Amino acid sequence: MNAILRPPGDDLPEAEFAPMTPERLDAVMAIEATAYPHPWTRGNFSDSLRAGYQAQVLVAGDTLVGYFVAMKGVDEVHLLNITVAPELQGQGWGRLMLDALATWSRGQGAQWLWLEVRASNERAQRLYAHYGYRRVGQRKAYYPAAHGRREDAIVMSLPL
Ligand SMILES: CC(C)(COP(=O)(O)OP(=O)(O)OC[C@H]1O[C@@H](n2cnc3c(N)ncnc32)[C@H](O)[C@@H]1OP(=O)(O)O)[C@@H](O)C(=O)NCCC(=O)NCCS
Repeated sequence: MNAILRPPGDDLPEAEFAPMTPERLDAVMAIEATAYPHPWTRGNFSDSLRAGYQAQVLVAGDTLVGYFVAMKGVDEVHLLNITVAPELQGQGWGRLMLDALATWSRGQGAQWLWLEVRASNERAQRLYAHYGYRRVGQRKAYYPAAHGRREDAIVMSLPL
């Protein structure tokens, strides 16, 4: 994953993927903390790196545009985290990361991509649906939510 990528509709320099490493976790956490009301902890990322999950960052010059973390199963890949820096959302970077994920997953021989998304996260669901992911299930009370409540996850999958 080292191709130079044209920014889809933006004035940033060219972007490229690089492995997420422990040294990059400060920058990753800075985005994670602003992108979610219930962000992953640093430990969630460290554990993912230790486990050998596919974890890539997308960088344009000095700017960290976004990142994703995915776990390979037997014949499927499970997308665990995909995030674009809030000020760079809506410019096509998310779709570009979905492309990279699908390409990598096919290369691993996977036949399906899976993900969970908060029931309230309509923006992400729309992006996935436009990409070709289909809703295949719902997990009750999967995510923590405000005021000690829980929120359902929508399960979506994409045949590769
Ligand atoms: C969800 C998320 C990763 C999507 O990334 P993104 O870069 O904002 O997504 P994109 O820009 O690729 O696509 C968003 C929309 O912008 C549109 N778009 C694509 N290229 C564009 C461009 N050049 N100019 C303007 N809009 C564009 C896309 O068509 C898409 O529209 P759609 O949702 O109607 O299909 C990002 O919004 C995010 O990090 N959100 C917070 C964290 C989160 O919710 N993560 C997902 C958890 S499951």
